[in-house]
Amino acid sequence: MGVRERIRERVREMGETGMAAGSAIVSLNSAGISSKPHRKIAHFRQLSSRIKVPHFLNLQCRSPSFSSSGIKAHVASIEQANTEAMPKVEAPVVIVTGASRGIGKAIALSLGKAGCKVLVNYARSSKEAEEVCKEIETYGGQALTFGGDVSKEADVEAMIKTAVDAWGTLDVLINNAGITRDGLLMRMKTSQWKEVIDLNLTGVFLCTQAAAKIMMKKKKGRIINIASVVGLTGNIGQANYSAAKAGVIGFTKTVAKEYSSRNINVNAVAPGFIASDMTAKLGADIEKKILEIVPLGRYGQPEEVAGLVEFLALNPAAGYITGQVLTIDGGMVM
Ligand SMILES: NC(=O)c1ccc[n+]([C@@H]2O[C@H](COP(=O)([O-])OP(=O)(O)OC[C@H]3O[C@@H](n4cnc5c(N)ncnc54)[C@H](OP(=O)(O)O)[C@@H]3O)[C@@H](O)[C@H]2O)c1
Repeated sequence: MGVRERIRERVREMGETGMAAGSAIVSLNSAGISSKPHRKIAHFRQLSSRIKVPHFLNLQCRSPSFSSSGIKAHVASIEQANTEAMPKVEAPVVIVTGASRGIGKAIALSLGKAGCKVLVNYARSSKEAEEVCKEIETYGGQALTFGGDVSKEADVEAMIKTAVDAWGTLDVLINNAGITRDGLLMRMKTSQWKEVIDLNLTGVFLCTQAAAKIMMKKKKGRIINIASVVGLTGNIGQANYSAAKAGVIGFTKTVAKEYSSRNINVNAVAPGFIASDMTAKLGADIEKKILEIVPLGRYGQPEEVAGLVEFLALNPAAGYITGQVLTIDGGMVM
C-alpha cells in the first residue's frame, strides 16, 4: 500500500472512530513523512515541493468520507501543527562577482533558476546587472544588484553586508570577476601587472576572507573560484593574468585545507576559451589559432561553465569535492 493510501485509510478510520489529532500525526510519521529539518543545500524548488504535507492534507479534507465538522476541526489542527513543525527550507544565498556579463551572468542566471537568492555584483554595467536580476525574478527567484570594485576592501565589505542585510546569511560565493591587460613581458607596464593582480587575485582573497567569516560560524559553505587553464599552462602575452590565475589555484587549495574542518568546500574552475566579451576582443586570426589547439574545435559557452559551477555550488554530490581544479576547456589541457 502506498503512502497516500495508508494516510487516506488512517484518516478514514479517524472519521469512523473520532480519534484524536495526535494519533494522526503519529500516522503521518509512520507513513514515512519526516519532520526532521533537511540540512543539505539542494535545489530549493525541488525540495520544497517534496515537503508540502499540509497541501496533501487539504485534499483529504475535501474527501466525502470525511465530512463531520468535528473531524474537520481535528484535521485543521493537524494541518496547523504540521505547518508549524514543517522543516523551513531556505533558498541558498549566493554572491556572484562580475555577474553583469559573460560567464558571471550565466552563473547568476543558472543559480537564480535553481532557486537561490542571488547578489549580482558588477563594476560599471549597472543596466546589464539590472537585466540579470529581472531575468532571475521571471523565474520566480530573488536577486539584487551591487555595484562595487571587488579589488577594494571597503567595497567587498559593503557587498557582503548588503547580502546579509537582505537575506540574513551567505551560503555560496562565486569569485568570477576578472580582467585581462595583455602584453608581452618586455613591454608590460607595472600598471597592467597591478590591475590584473589586484582584481583577479587580491579580489579573490578579499571576497573569500569576508565570506568565510560568515560561513565558518554556520559551519557550511561553498566557494568556487573562476581560474583559467592559463594558470596551469601559462600563455604568451599573459604573464600578469597567468600569474594571477595560478595564484588563485594555489589559494584555492590552501583555503580548502584551512576551512575543511568548518565544512566549507573550496574549488576552482579553470575554463579554456569561452565565448564572452573577454575573448571577443582577441580577433579572428587569434581565434583561428586557438581553435587549432582545442580538440573539440570550438569555444565553450558561458552556460557550460555555469552548469559545472552550479553542480559544485548546490549539488549534494559535490559535498565531497574540495581543493580541486576542474578544467572545462574542450580538451585543451589533458
Ligand atoms: N572568457 C574566457 O575565455 C575565460 C577563460 C578562462 C577564465 N575566464 C575567467 O572567467 C571570469 C569571467 O570572464 P568573462 O569572460 O565572463 O569576462 P567578461 O565578459 O569580460 O565579464 C567580466 C565581468 O567582471 C566584472 N568586473 C570587471 N572588473 C570588476 C571589478 N573591479 N569589480 C567587480 N566586477 C568587475 C565586469 O563588470 P562590468 O560589466 O561592470 O565591467 C563583468 O561582469 C574571469 O575571472 C575570467 O578571467 C574567462
